[in-house]
Amino acid sequence: MSYPYQITSQEQYEKAYKKSVEHPEDFWAEVAENFVWRKKWDKVLEWNFIEPNVKWFIGGKLNITESCLDQWAEKTPDVPAIIWEPNDPNEKSITLTYKELLHKVIEFAVVLKNNGVKKGDRVCIYMPMVPELAIAMLACARIGAIHSIVFGGFSAKSIRDRILDSQCSLAITSDGAYRGGKTILLKPAVDEALEGDSPVKKVIVLQRTHSDVTMKEGRDIWWHDEIAKLKGQELKDPLEIMDAEDMLYILYTSGSTGKPKGVVHTIGGYMVYITYTFVNAFQYQQGDIYFCTADIGWVTGHSYVVYGPLAAGATSLMFEGIPTYPDAGRFWDIVDKYKVAVIYTAPTAIRSLMAYGLEPLKGKDLSSLKVLGSVGEPINYEAWQWYYENVGKKRCSIADTWWQTETGGIMITTLPGVTPAIPTFATLPMPGVQPVLMNEHGHQITESNVTGKLCMKFPWPGMIRTTYGDHERCRLNYFNTYPGYYVSGDGALRDDKGNYRIIGRVDDVLNVSGHRIGTAEVENIINVQDCVVESAVVGYPHEIKGQALYAYVILVGEVTQEEALKKINDAVNKEIGHFARPDKIQFVKGLPKTRSGKIMRRILRKIAEGEIDNLGDTTTLLDPGVVEEIKNHRV
Ligand code: WT7
Repeated sequence: MSYPYQITSQEQYEKAYKKSVEHPEDFWAEVAENFVWRKKWDKVLEWNFIEPNVKWFIGGKLNITESCLDQWAEKTPDVPAIIWEPNDPNEKSITLTYKELLHKVIEFAVVLKNNGVKKGDRVCIYMPMVPELAIAMLACARIGAIHSIVFGGFSAKSIRDRILDSQCSLAITSDGAYRGGKTILLKPAVDEALEGDSPVKKVIVLQRTHSDVTMKEGRDIWWHDEIAKLKGQELKDPLEIMDAEDMLYILYTSGSTGKPKGVVHTIGGYMVYITYTFVNAFQYQQGDIYFCTADIGWVTGHSYVVYGPLAAGATSLMFEGIPTYPDAGRFWDIVDKYKVAVIYTAPTAIRSLMAYGLEPLKGKDLSSLKVLGSVGEPINYEAWQWYYENVGKKRCSIADTWWQTETGGIMITTLPGVTPAIPTFATLPMPGVQPVLMNEHGHQITESNVTGKLCMKFPWPGMIRTTYGDHERCRLNYFNTYPGYYVSGDGALRDDKGNYRIIGRVDDVLNVSGHRIGTAEVENIINVQDCVVESAVVGYPHEIKGQALYAYVILVGEVTQEEALKKINDAVNKEIGHFARPDKIQFVKGLPKTRSGKIMRRILRKIAEGEIDNLGDTTTLLDPGVVEEIKNHRV
């Protein structure tokens, strides 16, 4: 079966795009017809980008899990919905058919109900990449609870902040996680996050690593015990019928200021958008095995490991481990073992594998591959070529997909085999996506081959609706700079054929190994250390990670540099997580500032990049001597 909304030729793409711009409501209503609704919408769209207020499929009633599970449990009950490949290749893999997955989701939905979770409640999920993670999120959706998933690499403090911000009443975690050769404990981080006052009343714990963990009486319960209690009972499906604009989930992401914000996605529009983009960006055909390597803790996992593929009735391969365990051929072993047709991964993973050469690819049958996807950061030319030649054997098209946590789904991409791919270009907007480039005066750029700020002038169904608990923050962050436009924070260039090339962030947000980090977030942590007067964190290009952090720090008092380094690293570990630690820390006497006291980050960036002879205009600096000192002591 193919999908009625699947685009299979360039001509069809052009037609669909034109229709989506001229008659967006008709266009999206037609796509939305392909999903399970309990009641159709009264009106397709209502919007303004000033408040902002965006609503899709107004009046529509549904439960997203009926599109993701029930419809397929009926039509294709024995098709694998999830294939799970464990961290350790010697452990048994797991296949859950649509029928089985539906059953498990209903079971766990009953468990959530039994533990007091009601429609609209927030549930924090902190779990490894195991099938139960997908089951937990779908079970939340089944009963109308809003999940807030926290990536397993985040620290206890980050979990705590997120739980407090969205007032979660229940948390789901596991004893531990396997990652490559390591066993990481998760439950203790949750315990620490709940110390003191906490809105969390119950913690459901999955047994994964059989690590020794403490269970708090009255609060902590085992997943398997709760399921065991249901045996022999008749399950009453606790499905809730939801409004199209009810919240589906909250996902925290970093911005250029302050603490991470809770991006809110709602049910109806998100479902339609991610499924449409899933089918088209990967040219998915039923029966294909689709392998997205992203962790479900990030938006890529939400949209393209779980909701999108399942709503399309696809087979989603979920991998618990890392690309280099037990060796750097693991991805290719998986492709070979399951005959994967579509692989969707990140440039940072590709670059890290490139460093191992071609040996790990030898003897692996990759002939099942049709489409190679990339996401998370610009894919550089060398990585693109390597992926194309050595993985795709020049037979597969690359979809370089540009999007964000806030966009919910893919916005700009090649449609593999349908529209032309160009290395280092994400290429064309999806139907329904209306990008514009803005110059510094807030005017739309109409010329070709000029760089501008990438904005959107029209809503798409998968877009952010608000930031949890603080709508004004959403307005200020995304809709304030250019009134009437959504501002992505990325810079881009458009060629004379309308292809977009993403340059990278134009704000103080960095992308380290595909993890989004606000420089201000890290500075705030460094600055509160007793031994620190002030700091400035910037990004610099890193061969594997894409970008890495470079911190300039002014110390005070009797502290040695080694002690200061340790303090700073420990603090970042504790407050955010290991992945946010600066690669380089330089202790300086002063920071380059303008007369008005603003740190000139442009100069610090250049120095971090190693471009010390070309610092541009430094005449507005308060004390140009500072720059010399920093230059001479680069690390
Ligand atoms: C930022 C969003 C999208 C899911 C994973 C990251 C960068 C993402 C690309 C791409 C160039 C890209 C942007 C964007 N980015 N994809 N194909 N080419 N840059 O989601 O954590 O919300 O990060 O990732 O800078 O703004 P996220």
